[in-house]
Amino acid sequence: MRSQLLAGFIGLAVLCLVVVACGPTAEPSVPVDLATQKAASAPGSIKVVVIGKSVAPYWSNVEKGVDAAGQDLGVETVFFSPSKEDVAAQIQTMETYIAQRVTGIAIAPSDPQALEPVMRKAAEAGIFVITLDTPPVEDSISLVYIGTDNLAAGEIAGKTMARLLAGSGKVGIGRGSDTALNALQRTEGFIAGIAGTDIEVLEPVNDKEDPAIALQLANSIIAAHPDLGGAFGIYAYNGPIWATAIKEADAVGRIQLVCFDATSDIINGVKEGVIDATVAQREYDMGYKSVQIIKLMAQEGVEAALAEMGAQDGVIDTGVDVITPATLESYEATLDRKGIPHDWSTAGWEPPSR
Ligand code: BGC
Repeated sequence: MRSQLLAGFIGLAVLCLVVVACGPTAEPSVPVDLATQKAASAPGSIKVVVIGKSVAPYWSNVEKGVDAAGQDLGVETVFFSPSKEDVAAQIQTMETYIAQRVTGIAIAPSDPQALEPVMRKAAEAGIFVITLDTPPVEDSISLVYIGTDNLAAGEIAGKTMARLLAGSGKVGIGRGSDTALNALQRTEGFIAGIAGTDIEVLEPVNDKEDPAIALQLANSIIAAHPDLGGAFGIYAYNGPIWATAIKEADAVGRIQLVCFDATSDIINGVKEGVIDATVAQREYDMGYKSVQIIKLMAQEGVEAALAEMGAQDGVIDTGVDVITPATLESYEATLDRKGIPHDWSTAGWEPPSR
């Protein structure tokens, strides 16, 4: 993991994370023709492609943001995710849309090193290339990263776990990648968050965003460590998978579960009392803003678009919300206020007593 990436992530705010250096260098390397370009693109001629990492409820939420922006702004959009982490499929999809000379591509690189050459190729073809959800390499061609400050968010998760475990216990970690920077930074942040406690963190296991493998791995960790006190689900589907494993092992309340994201199955886990806390990303916003900024880049130029969208040092930090049984109702009220769709409700629900 890059020390420079980590160094920027200081100054943690609990609910809304401040913008910090992450992914692109402080001054993203913008090709001159793109930086100065002010294409007189009419919205109807703009086509934005967003490439995710897996077929999962989290990515459906990103897609909803992409679709909404496409409709609101009159821009043609395409959303594609491979079924699970698949670097070759991401590269192939980039190639397809480079050949079509689309206006812009937003990608969540499953392996930032492996994706960088094709991202560069797209930029050289005059396509606006940005990243969302998962940061690119440090000196990337990506014009902006739109997503979570993963180191800071991981640290929130670690501090939450430290509180739940009262400072000691053994914790298992499930994640979907050993290369994607968001997984690595969340792990790093989590470890920073439990620093100074007696919590022991087991080596993270990698399921490559395959839920069936994730369940086998969670079951084996629980079986191998009868004294397991906590579990940390790094990707959106990991939390519900751990919840299933914990319920099957009859360990609800004995194994504290902290996870990421707020898909319906995670919220159901919080409502049931098997998920103790989750760090909710704002993935709908990531999708929406990716389309919005590419449209602005095409119409007003890169620098104007970055300024108008409030990018700082090549990053638009979408922020996180920490959800526990105690904060779930206010989280729902926030979503409703912002008009963000969700297919769960707290109506008639009472927070679990423990
Ligand atoms: C991550 C994504 C990942 C997804 C899987 C999210 O927490 O931000 O990168 O693909 O989980 O569902």
